[in-house]
Amino acid sequence: MDYLQIKGMKPLQGSVTISGAKNSALPLIAFSILSKNPFLLTNLPEVQDIKTLLKLLDNLGASYEYNKNQVEIDTSTINSTIAKYDIVRTMRASVLVLGPLLARFGHCEVSLPGGCAIGQRPIDLHLKALKTMGAEISIRSGYVVANAPKGLKGGVIVFDKVTVTGTENILMAAALAKGTTTIVNAAKEPEVVQLCEVLKKSGVEVEGIGSDEIKIYGTAGELLKTPKVEVIPDRIEAGTYLCAGAITNSKITIRKVEPQHLDAVLLKLQQMGFGLEIEGDEITILPAKKIEPVEIVTSEYPGFPTDMQAQFMSLALLADGTSFIEERLFENRFMHVAELKRFGANIQLKGNLATIIGPTKLCGADVMATDLRASSALVLAGLCAKGVTNVHRIYHLDRGYEKLEEKLTALGAEVKRLKE
Ligand code: UD1
Repeated sequence: MDYLQIKGMKPLQGSVTISGAKNSALPLIAFSILSKNPFLLTNLPEVQDIKTLLKLLDNLGASYEYNKNQVEIDTSTINSTIAKYDIVRTMRASVLVLGPLLARFGHCEVSLPGGCAIGQRPIDLHLKALKTMGAEISIRSGYVVANAPKGLKGGVIVFDKVTVTGTENILMAAALAKGTTTIVNAAKEPEVVQLCEVLKKSGVEVEGIGSDEIKIYGTAGELLKTPKVEVIPDRIEAGTYLCAGAITNSKITIRKVEPQHLDAVLLKLQQMGFGLEIEGDEITILPAKKIEPVEIVTSEYPGFPTDMQAQFMSLALLADGTSFIEERLFENRFMHVAELKRFGANIQLKGNLATIIGPTKLCGADVMATDLRASSALVLAGLCAKGVTNVHRIYHLDRGYEKLEEKLTALGAEVKRLKE
């Protein structure tokens, strides 16, 4: 197993190019199931989650040509509609094939994802919505067995909670349904917006893009003529590198980003005293004279993303005073707290509220990655800690960060990938 060794306290400089968004690429790969022609996706991040979903499509009988940052997927050869446990258990987002498979083939069996490190993460809302669209759904031997022999039909879906992959699943199901589907309380994340725009470019009429009420006019089973699509920049990777600049109090530039997608993150960096220069698709972060404490509450987009919570907790350790971070989306997303304490962090945890008492001088330590974003928080802590940090179990990081150690090394950090 690989681990990362970081020699901390090296100032960073220069620039880093941000990869395509994993969380946009995943639904777009699932979307290829709705395409009548081979679907070409560019600016694909070379990360494990993408390879996992492509492997799932391969298992279904689809074929693809994958070449580093682009893939062309041909789903005309699909001959199975069963998404097996072996793959789904390694990546929850596999559940994104549920809507498109059911819409196209009228039947599918998708393994239930089960719980994960950050919480229970049920998919009840996906299933309830598909039932509203006429699907018969049962759970058998750990699988969601879904049938809609006469095709899905449009309906009004009211999500009790905002769900990102839930909204994406229903968007894809609705695209091939008979009639109109209205999604009320839809997610507004940029990744959802990109999927809507791609549907539109593929000939599906979609109204209310970017709002919490989306209307989709289904094609009644007709497959889509899809264009070439470039994946949007990864706002979470971008935010993580901004935190790398901030935590080392360095000036660095992140390139090829969509600054608007980062509004909530940029605001918090400014409140903490960091300077920001935004020009086109580049953001430069400038050192703070004094790092101020911060109050963060995670929420749906355009609020502060839960996927940036752990990284800001590392940053808050250096703030001159007490910071508060409230996690509102996932019930168990504080696994990094125990690991940050190994660096000497002073964090008190009560329910979903973390109180971070700074400033702390961090000391390098051996720490264990527990989930994707928690892992990047540990790398950030390692960058500013005195001495050597070893981050173990970095397969979590490899799920979502493309060439992390190469990018950090190019910025001047001392980071090596080693074998246990
Ligand atoms: C997506 C992102 C993930 C991010 C999360 C929240 C992808 C591939 N992953 O995950 O990185 O952290 O959004 O921004 O895009 N819920 C239910 N029932 C459901 C569905 C969700 O109760 O059927 C709950 C969840 O447990 C959670 C909340 O709704 O508390 C939001 O989850 P959701 O938006 O669905 O997260 P994901 O789409 O899995």
